[in-house]
Amino acid sequence: MILVLIRVYKLVFQYSMKLKTIDTLKNLKNKTVLVRVDYNVALKHGKILETERIERSFETINYLVKKKAKVILMSHLGSPEGKYVKDLSLKPIAYFLDSRGKKKVAFVNECTGEHVKSQAKKLKPAQILLLENLRFNPGEEKNDLKFSRELASLADIYVNEAFSVCHRAHASVSAITKYLPAYAGFNLANEVENLSKLLGGFKRPAVAIIGGVKISTKIKVIQNLLKRYDQVLIGGALANNFFKAQNRNIGNSVFEKDYVALAKNLLKNAKGKIILPIDLRITKKIKPGAKFVSVKLDELKNHQNFQIADIGPKTENYFESFIHRSKTLVWNGPMGVFEIEPFNHGSNYICQKVASHAKGPAFGVVGGGETIALLDRMHLKAWPDFVSTAGGAMLEFLEGKVLPGIRPLMK
Ligand code: ADP
Ligand code: 3PG
Ligand code: MG
Repeated sequence: MILVLIRVYKLVFQYSMKLKTIDTLKNLKNKTVLVRVDYNVALKHGKILETERIERSFETINYLVKKKAKVILMSHLGSPEGKYVKDLSLKPIAYFLDSRGKKKVAFVNECTGEHVKSQAKKLKPAQILLLENLRFNPGEEKNDLKFSRELASLADIYVNEAFSVCHRAHASVSAITKYLPAYAGFNLANEVENLSKLLGGFKRPAVAIIGGVKISTKIKVIQNLLKRYDQVLIGGALANNFFKAQNRNIGNSVFEKDYVALAKNLLKNAKGKIILPIDLRITKKIKPGAKFVSVKLDELKNHQNFQIADIGPKTENYFESFIHRSKTLVWNGPMGVFEIEPFNHGSNYICQKVASHAKGPAFGVVGGGETIALLDRMHLKAWPDFVSTAGGAMLEFLEGKVLPGIRPLMK
């Protein structure tokens, strides 16, 4: 009984997730607002390859500027592990912000210390300052109180506009909220609102498509969605773990040994909700232009020394039939090695179907680093109801967790 009550409480707690947003702040004029953004973007020779995450922070920044606040932006980039790494400096992002915005963005090559303090003090209303990569400081990933207090000392108010890092209990995401009043930025609130719609109060049939490569990072999402959804379609290398659990021959295909028993258990208990591929594109070696054959599952035993590279054409149609019926649809993870032609066929096909069904009758959400890259490449990014810029954070949110970065922002 108590367990049931705890579960009901947890459900209500999560899906009534009301956040304190910045538009409820009365007077921002002259206030210094420290905004945690996620500018962890792919860079090549200082050029930003994917600007979406940066662009999504503009609404909040523009709002604060319009209200005459002094804005300090802070972010991490990559994993420098507490040390200065030249290639992971946020300086190129400052140039980009400068070139894109109407306002000049100043940059300071540290994030704590006297120099930063004096730069912060010098800020005038509506001016913007970007701090250097937070993870150059070992305190960031340790959720260090001293480091977060130093960051907090720069400002009057803290705003979290970095949904994609909310699964990390880091100093600029978690500990800092002990020292400053904390609010959610517009994009963070939007992420939470849309992803919450996938977990409660949704229309049926609800269908999830989970692909990609590492089952260890996706198994809890699969488990949580199996409890709630009508079907969970499994593609990509994730499916290999389930084939292994069924004692099928998967040749030299990738799988995670430690998860086969769990996959077996899920298959046993999921009451037919787990939908696996019914045929596959297999090849001797995954490489550009490699020859392949499409085989039914039962034919796998007749092959040796092969790799599963993509779902097969029958699976494309089979998966499409579930997508087509769905009223709620979420997709994370490609169906095959989509970076390498011809093994992009299954992913491109599913991408097209998910995007058009989400544009049409279903509430459809797409997320995951590689998955979004695919959507972008297919010029379909504008089609789903929502595209999450988060990878790990979206997965952990869909596991049903209240993320450490979100909890302090709740009303
Ligand atoms: P996302 O970032 O969208 O969550 P993942 O990182 O989980 O996706 O997985 C993407 C990777 O999965 C891609 O690099 C793709 O090549 C790989 N992948 C998908 N199917 C297979 C497969 N059958 N064998 C090997 N790798 C695969
Ligand atoms: C992401 O890219 O998913 C976020 O920026 C978090 O980055 P991290 O995985 O390095 O913590
Ligand atoms: Mg990925």
